Amino acid sequence: MEQVTEPEAIRSRLLAACRDGRTVGLVPTMGYFHDGHLALMRAARRDCDLVVTSIFVNPLQFGPGEDFGDYPRDLQRDREAAAQVDVDLLFCPAVETMYPEGFATFVRVERLTEVLCGRFRPGHFQGVATVVAKLFNLVPADFAYFGEKDAQQALVIKRMVRDLNFPIRVITVPTVREIDGLAMSSRNIYLSEAQRRAAPVLYQSLLEAKEAMERGERSGEALCHMVKRRIAREPEARLQYVEVRGLPDLEELTEVNKPALLAVAAYFGKARLIDNVILDPTGRVKSLNDV
Ligand code: PAJ
Repeated sequence: MEQVTEPEAIRSRLLAACRDGRTVGLVPTMGYFHDGHLALMRAARRDCDLVVTSIFVNPLQFGPGEDFGDYPRDLQRDREAAAQVDVDLLFCPAVETMYPEGFATFVRVERLTEVLCGRFRPGHFQGVATVVAKLFNLVPADFAYFGEKDAQQALVIKRMVRDLNFPIRVITVPTVREIDGLAMSSRNIYLSEAQRRAAPVLYQSLLEAKEAMERGERSGEALCHMVKRRIAREPEARLQYVEVRGLPDLEELTEVNKPALLAVAAYFGKARLIDNVILDPTGRVKSLNDV
């Protein structure tokens, strides 16, 4: 596996591959890999001739007081894990080359970024869209892979790709979970033992609501109320939001009469965890690739 740090080097390396007619898959990450990241790389390996994984802890998407400085990093371990799943190229640019003195251009996706996590993390999705746009320009890929754990992020990127005509296809991959249902996240290492034991309540409460929907409950408010009640019983959890929103535009939805996202964010100590499930009364939509 090759490792490249210079933006110009990755571009010329890949343009040569494209000229040879090889398909390229890009997996953007912030590193500190877990099985969720590796599932994206495996999906890319399945679909593409050349797999590029980027590791870049993007300062632009962290708000003041968020965990940019503390964000876990372990390049050596990540290199080994990426090599295990047969990644061809690891792209690890430096902050100074991605954002040199005078950097002044940002990508802002309206509406989609103003709800759910966007309400509580102003500027976050602008930081994500900007860095992903840069990565799409630096790595001329045919496919890019995103996890459904960060469903809003995947929808924002799909919107950006359509709106700005990026010649790339976004593929989403289902959330990879621990045995007890907790969605894998680099931030799970912030959890104390008691918080870790409590954290599966997020997915359990979402599943309860999904089951209620499948039994016929269509009221968004009733479904959110179920999640709230369940999480309120867990003293380690502090709920930030639970909402039902339409797919793919994340519009308000009072009745689940079309494919929807039931999404939750909660603090366990200093760790802010998110999770979601897709609700679809027709049973047709199983993933964000279907919307
Ligand atoms: P990061 O949190 O490192 O996640 C990289 C990718 O892995 C994202 O597409 C995310 O949705 C996916 N992912 C994380 N946990 C997952 C899980 N349990 N199952 C499946 N996929 C999972 O998301 C980012 O980095 C950044 O915002 C980035 C897109 C790289 C832009 O900086």
